This record gives sequence, C-alpha cells and structure tokens, in this order.
Amino acid sequence: MKQYIDLVEKKLDEYIPVKYPEEIYESMRYSLLAGGKRLRPIICLETCKIFGGNIEDALPIACAIEMLHVQSLIHDDLPCVDNDDYRRGQLSNHKAFSESTAVLAGDALITYAIQTIIEKSKNLSAEKILKLIELYTNAAGVNGIIAGQVVDIQSEGKKIDKETLEYIHTHKTADMFRFAFKAGGVVAGLPDEMLEILDKLGLKLGLAFQICDDILDETSTFEEMGKTLGKDEAEEKSTYTRLYGLKNAECKVNCLLDECYDILKKLNLKSEIFEDIIASIKRKAKI
Ligand code: IPE
Ligand code: IPE
Ligand code: MG
Ligand code: MG
Ligand code: MG
Repeated sequence: MKQYIDLVEKKLDEYIPVKYPEEIYESMRYSLLAGGKRLRPIICLETCKIFGGNIEDALPIACAIEMLHVQSLIHDDLPCVDNDDYRRGQLSNHKAFSESTAVLAGDALITYAIQTIIEKSKNLSAEKILKLIELYTNAAGVNGIIAGQVVDIQSEGKKIDKETLEYIHTHKTADMFRFAFKAGGVVAGLPDEMLEILDKLGLKLGLAFQICDDILDETSTFEEMGKTLGKDEAEEKSTYTRLYGLKNAECKVNCLLDECYDILKKLNLKSEIFEDIIASIKRKAKI
C-alpha cells in the first residue's frame, strides 16, 4: 500500500508544477498533496497489477482519478454545499485560499485530469485512452458524482426512501470506486465481461465506504478523520445512519463487504491490498 501511495504522490507532485498564475497551481497542490488515504488510485493500480498490467502505464490514470476525487472534496466543502472548514487535517481549500479560487481549482482539476490521461499515457493505445476518458466522464459528470451531489443536497432535511438514498451513495461515492477498478482493468486489457464484474465490486465497496463514512461522522474524531465531523446531523443530511440507525448501518456495511469478498473469491483473486481495504472499512464501521 505504502509503495503505491509513494508512487502516486511523487507523480502528482511532478504532474502539477507551480507556474503563472501561481495561486491556482498552489491551490490545486494544497489539496492534492495534503495526504488522504489515496484509496481510489491504489485500487486502480492494484487492479492493473493483479490482472497482469504494467503499473507504470496505470500511473497517469491513477493520478487523474485522485485529481477528480480531490476536486469533488474541494467543491463538497464549499459554503454553498457542505460548508466544511477542515479537510485532510488542514483548512479546506476555500478557507486557505478564497471561495473563487476553490471553485476554479476544482474546475482546473477536472480538466487537468483529462489532460494528464491524454498527455502522459504514452504506452497506452488510442483505444484504451478513449475508453478511460469515457469512464472518466461518466464518473465525473451528470451521470456520476454530480447526480449524487445534487440529490444529496436536495435531500437535506427530508425523509427519503431507500432507493433515493442508494441513488445518492451510488453516484456521489461508488461511481468513483467503480471507475477506479475498471480503469485498472482497462489498462491491463481486460474484456468487457470482466469489467462488468469489477463494476459490481466497485459498487458494493463504494456503498460500504459511504455508509461507513456516515457512521464515522457520528462516532469518530477530528484527529482520526482530519475533517469536520458531526455536521451530517446538524445539517439534517439524509445519511444511512439518520434513516436506519447506527447498528443497522454497521450490519449493512458488513453485508456489502461480504459481497465484495464473494466477488473476489469467485474471480479467484488473491490481493492482500483489497483484503486490507475491506478489513479496514469493516473495523472502522464497528460501533
Ligand atoms: C471522502 O473520501 C469522501 C467520501 C466519499 C466519503 P476519503 O475518505 O477517501 O477521503 P481522503 O481521500 O482519504 O481524504
Ligand atoms: C462525499 O460525501 C461525497 C463527495 C462527492 C465528496 P460527504 O459529504 O459525506 O463526504 P465528507 O464526509 O464531506 O468527506
Ligand atoms: Mg457532501
Ligand atoms: Mg461533505
Ligand atoms: Mg461524510
């Protein structure tokens, strides 16, 4: 895990140098290089590796995935969205810079990520690059994170049904996990049927991850999470825990993670890294 994190952080630093106009590059780097678990790029690199792909070839897309993720965090923290002052153990982007710079840094990351895929994926065929960009735009756009975020905001203070909650979690969070698995698979040259299975794995893991995040908002500390907690309840966010309670949320996480194990088993995939990720979500969701 540490090896992947180091690789990704070195490349992120290299891909985004500071030049004129400095403030926007500094703002992008401030959030990108502030740590974070790097789960999504790790998933992409590990998927590529276990299916026999070359990790070097997957680094540009792995970094693009982290850029898109960081964009979603910067915009998620804005006063007009979740209005959160801390992220990754430091002031959120709009607090450290300004609201306008944070909006633009997010916009810049969305496009810089695509530029990175196109310019840095030197060893990938045009067909693979096109496929990666298709996956990228699906996860980033109005069918992906944006759809989830819109319904998340619309659902504040409302009683929503199970399907709507799952819609929010699928799009605002799981779509990025699906993208990360499938991107690794595309670099490794997997056929569509395998990508479909990875899509399911990403969906289950992503849903478990978001429900766990909802649990941690109530049970964890700033020191552990590095971000503002307890806000979901204050803002009457429609979270799994608010709708069904902590215990049911923990059960649901365990159920989804068991389904992830089943998928890995059926594929006969041995990956310590995936097992560690699943085990860590399970441990954190324990109430
Ligand atoms: C936070 O994701 C956003 C959610 C989907 C809950 P992470 O918990 O992976 O955040 P970082 O990347 O480690 O900061
Ligand atoms: C995160 O949902 C979804 C994103 C697209 C960033 P949250 O709003 O619960 O994430 P945190 O708790 O602020 O990290
Ligand atoms: Mg949010
Ligand atoms: Mg938030
Ligand atoms: Mg949260």
